Amino acid sequence: MKKVLIATDKPFAKEAVESIESIGKNAGYEVVKLEKYTSKEQLLEAVADVDAMIIRSDIADRDVMNAAKNLKIVVRAGAGYDNIDLSAATEKGVVAMNTPGQNSNAVAELAFGMMVYSARGGFDGKTGSELRGKTLGIHAYGNVGKYVAQIAKGFGMKLFAFDPFLKDSDIEADGITPVHSVEELYKKCQYVSLHIPANEKTKKSINKDLLSVMPKGAVLVNTARKEVIHEDDLLAIMTERNDFRYLSDIAPDCAHVFEEKFSGRFFFTPKKMGAQTEEANINAGIAAINQIIAFLENGDMKYKVN
Ligand code: 3PG
Repeated sequence: MKKVLIATDKPFAKEAVESIESIGKNAGYEVVKLEKYTSKEQLLEAVADVDAMIIRSDIADRDVMNAAKNLKIVVRAGAGYDNIDLSAATEKGVVAMNTPGQNSNAVAELAFGMMVYSARGGFDGKTGSELRGKTLGIHAYGNVGKYVAQIAKGFGMKLFAFDPFLKDSDIEADGITPVHSVEELYKKCQYVSLHIPANEKTKKSINKDLLSVMPKGAVLVNTARKEVIHEDDLLAIMTERNDFRYLSDIAPDCAHVFEEKFSGRFFFTPKKMGAQTEEANINAGIAAINQIIAFLENGDMKYKVN
């Protein structure tokens, strides 16, 4: 019997796990779990005899690939696969996949939760501001960016998007104004919502050149990855401009400086929360087990990323 491991440091909702187990069982697979593990050794031990694994932001590095002697497929139940060593996976003949779009609405809703919270001063009883009529720049118009756009329309925001991989007409079709450089996006928009992946090209790419051209009352919203921010530059901007705010799903490495110096101008989730809804867990979890079955049974590699 083939064995599927669900390895989640941050576990899925109970309903999601039950669905994965039942789909796996009905297809004739044994489904095992390693949740809330506290050491890499536990993960290395758990992967030893599995044919497939489902992970979230869990690190699937070369050690994991080496330890997983029978592994044929790893599915990241989510969008960003910067936690998987793709070269190591490819060298070992392991197929890596993600489940694009399955948790995107949850992430987009969190972006708005943070924006409203910040615009209203953390609900501190003082006069805040509204999102209606404000400019919002969507940096990368993928699955999350599209949900952000839909929600922003309800809020009556003025929308702009930058995505070098799309044609203007793809963006215009959704009633959004495309811009043709990141600089233009940051210059035009009071709010910028980041939806770029973390890779060698994007790491530390959100730097002073971009942040300094944002208009008065600038708000940078990061539900992507902390690694895409140039933290020294961000600290410099926060210091120079007391109108600048930073909202992020997961604290930056320099969070202590924000706490000391920039009170009231930032918000960080205590843990990565974007995809932490029951719905997103169920969608991504079910997609992951179905992709594993489709691959192992029929060689379906639709969502392969390596
Ligand atoms: C993603 O890339 O899908 C999100 O960042 C969610 O990550 P998580 O599953 O670890 O919450």
